[in-house]
Amino acid sequence: MPETPKSNNFSKEKNIVWHEASVNRASRSNQRGHRSAIIWFTGLSGSGKSTLANAVNNVLFRKGLSTYLLDGDNIRHGLCKDLGFSDDDREENIRRISEVAKLFLDAGIIVLTAFVSPFRADRNKARELVEEGDFLEVYCAADLKICEERDTKGLYAKAREGAIKDFTGISSPYEEPLSPELKVETGMENLEESVHKVISKLIELKLIPSDVEGSL
Ligand code: ADX
Repeated sequence: MPETPKSNNFSKEKNIVWHEASVNRASRSNQRGHRSAIIWFTGLSGSGKSTLANAVNNVLFRKGLSTYLLDGDNIRHGLCKDLGFSDDDREENIRRISEVAKLFLDAGIIVLTAFVSPFRADRNKARELVEEGDFLEVYCAADLKICEERDTKGLYAKAREGAIKDFTGISSPYEEPLSPELKVETGMENLEESVHKVISKLIELKLIPSDVEGSL
């Protein structure tokens, strides 16, 4: 009897039976020569999540590892373009991303996700969807003041004027991770330092070979 994978058991349709594929995660990981994992970057808008995830992705890709980057702003142009920023919509956004990330995990790929993902409960659900050790939470810590000063997209200014409602950090909460696998001070350190920390962590967890250089 094949083992039913971890799921949220939320299907509306009862008459659906899990079909076990004969090419599985282990065979794919074996072929690629490395384990797969979800590296989940979370933090305020402007904290540097996307920049950091993108830079780490470059380093891993250059080394020949199979990776994929799921980025909030991009996913909201397609898969999640029907969603806004209410609490419910954010929950659904993160639920979809979690499921997509889980598919990449099964495909033997190291998937990096860069979403504000402000709610602890939603991040925890993403973690619980997969086995222990497959989910690595990277908290991109930057003070709201710094994110607002940077305001790369001009969204904080609009949020302060009241032109954007439910803006994270201004009119919608951000719940800091309590025990992330890694906290990176993206508000204070430079990109090179942050990349180095993430790569070192991945090596320490034996997710990637020890000869991957954490430089840009
Ligand atoms: S999440 O909260 O559902 O995880 P997501 O990461 O997909 O958010 O999208 C966040 C991006 O959308 C931000 O980087 C920002 O550019 C943009 N954005 C637009 N409106 C908002 C808002 N109200 N709150 C936060 N980010 C917003």
